[in-house]
Amino acid sequence: MELNELEQAFEQAYKKAAEAVYFSPGRVNLIGEHTDYNGGYVFPCALSFGTWLLLARNTEKVMRFKSLNMPEVTELALSTLTTPLPANHWVNYPLGCIAQFIKRGVSIEQGYDILIWGNVPAGAGLSSSAALEVVTAYAMNDQLGTGYDRTQLALIGQASEHEFAGVNCGIMDQFASAQGKKDHAIFLNCDTLEFELVPVKLEGIKVVISNTHSPHKLDSGAYNDRVAQCQLALKQLRTVRPELKNLAELTEAEFEQIEQAITDPIAHKRARHVVGEVQRTTDAVKALRRGDIATFGKLMCQSHVSLRDDYEVTGLHLDTLAEEAWKIEGVIGSRMTGGGFGGCTVSLVKDEAIPVFIEQVGKAYEEKTGIKPDFYIAEIGDGARRIA
Ligand code: GLA
Repeated sequence: MELNELEQAFEQAYKKAAEAVYFSPGRVNLIGEHTDYNGGYVFPCALSFGTWLLLARNTEKVMRFKSLNMPEVTELALSTLTTPLPANHWVNYPLGCIAQFIKRGVSIEQGYDILIWGNVPAGAGLSSSAALEVVTAYAMNDQLGTGYDRTQLALIGQASEHEFAGVNCGIMDQFASAQGKKDHAIFLNCDTLEFELVPVKLEGIKVVISNTHSPHKLDSGAYNDRVAQCQLALKQLRTVRPELKNLAELTEAEFEQIEQAITDPIAHKRARHVVGEVQRTTDAVKALRRGDIATFGKLMCQSHVSLRDDYEVTGLHLDTLAEEAWKIEGVIGSRMTGGGFGGCTVSLVKDEAIPVFIEQVGKAYEEKTGIKPDFYIAEIGDGARRIA
């Protein structure tokens, strides 16, 4: 949708003109999966897909929320903004962010009429919810003049996800949405929140996202189970390394020395993934910096294998897409991206191999699963911003 169409839709919904328009993107993670809530490294980039938020002030002391995908308007009195709506109500995402401002001592006296529209494919693991959270946090920050920086806005989005959506996610998605930069990936230390922007302009190679169209069910509890299993592993490792702050601090060699302290076999596998993935992420970024894209691709494939075998967050759909991609000449690397259980893979593919990739991976996937996948050439875009 074009900006003027969104503005018209706002006028139609609220019978007045929008006063401001904001945008925040979805993300794709190149490598570093399920490391963020373990204090490890991630390497995501913001996409050109995202969520738009239009707003205008009202005089009725209410917040009104309308999504272009739903017919109804949800209206909430300003005095009720810290109370979540019933589980799974989409308004919990923006509402949870507004509640975070109030929790931080900001008083909200002004009502707003808000219209939302997004083009991140839903349920694809490309962080449509983070885009919605961050665009809300960005817009409120701008309107209320609270002066939070982008990292704080990401933390507001993450807190909203924990408290209003019930997912104990790490910081990666909201951070990428807030801090993204065109043609760069974000090498983020999720413990300290220090980050570097690394250029991802690849000569003759594209980042291709393949959508399983099998929902990633992030809120199904399997994600929170993984978080809990990592916490258990950490707790057991602390019996021999009391000062250990998080799993990601351990090198692979250090882990091997103390891994027998983890008595739970599932927790042990989860921890092994995390420690290996942090190493792979660091190695991958080093390789990219020296222009060694082949090593980067190999590490992507190893990441997928570890997520499949040790972290167990892939399944038939993601495995088929990745494994079919590996067979094709001109594919530098391919892996699942995001939380897993469905959603998307991310692949680095040589320009000349893209048509074959789409045809062969698409055909094999459809034969195996009965679902037609979708393919997008990723455009790496900027983070949250005001558009008008
Ligand atoms: C989801 C979460 C992120 C991160 C990834 C896995 O996208 O929201 O915080 O944990 O899964 O890397």
